[in-house]
Amino acid sequence: MAYRYRSPLTRADVTPKHMYVNRRQLMAGSTAMLGAGLIGGRAAAQEALEPNSLEEITTYNNFYEFGTGKTDPASYAHMLTTEPWSIEIDGMVDNPGTWSMADVMEGMTVEERIYRLRCVEAWSMVVPWNGFELADLLTRVGVQEGARYVAFETLMRPEEMPGQQRAILDWPYREGLRLDEAMHPLTLLATGLYGDPLPNQNGAPIRLVVPWKYGFKSIKSIVRISLVEEMPEATWNMQNPREYGFYSNVNPNVDHPRWSQATERRIGGGLFSGREPTLMFNGYEDEVASLYEGMDLSVYY
Ligand code: MTE
Repeated sequence: MAYRYRSPLTRADVTPKHMYVNRRQLMAGSTAMLGAGLIGGRAAAQEALEPNSLEEITTYNNFYEFGTGKTDPASYAHMLTTEPWSIEIDGMVDNPGTWSMADVMEGMTVEERIYRLRCVEAWSMVVPWNGFELADLLTRVGVQEGARYVAFETLMRPEEMPGQQRAILDWPYREGLRLDEAMHPLTLLATGLYGDPLPNQNGAPIRLVVPWKYGFKSIKSIVRISLVEEMPEATWNMQNPREYGFYSNVNPNVDHPRWSQATERRIGGGLFSGREPTLMFNGYEDEVASLYEGMDLSVYY
């Protein structure tokens, strides 16, 4: 579908949400739930995998370029200019260059996918993203033989991103995926939520969403995508390699050195506001476990 930044999709334009909800419900209803002995309460909670409200999704954020407080992005992200926007695509690709948002969106099928975002700080929310598969873009770009990883960068613009005026992190924010993770059909480039363009605080105009990994892998406001041979630098991994591994798959059995990852608190949980058990790979185990076959996940965390 053609890229329409200012006149976005309505919810009626996109794939019905039950297709995505059912997927997770199926998994949650089977082995994970039986194993946890929580068929009643938890299965009911899964069935009601209702998205968080737009208000919740846009006022409780992590976007350190605007400060470290959860409400800083909502307060300051309006300072960021997101039009025009372009992405530098480089490295081991057939069609390197500067891609405008219109180029990137050309021919892409934007659909709605309801994914849980599980933050490393042990809270989560459920977000109805609008986006397309990263694999579709990588296929168009033409990944060359020998490329093994995909590296991503957020823009560097301290005059519009006050957090970047301080050395909170080693700017610009960087992330990376192994090529097979990047090509996985669950991996999205999101351009909207709730049928509207992404609010700035959620990573406008385009961000990564990797639902089986801790939220910090889902890098916002991307300006560079590079296909590379060596494992790329990743912001939190560089900051503290013992606490944040390159893979950072959601794993209730491998704790963060300073806190447990076994449970999570659903933001705005209402009726189910207690802590819920965290699911292996954030509930996407059936889809992604094969990517890590034979790897010791306590070593490759
Ligand atoms: N991307 C950039 N550029 N800067 C950030 O600070 N925070 C990450 C991730 N992407 C972050 C980022 C973290 S820790 C999380 S949990 C998610 O964004 C939060 O996404 P949300 O605010 O849309 O819920």
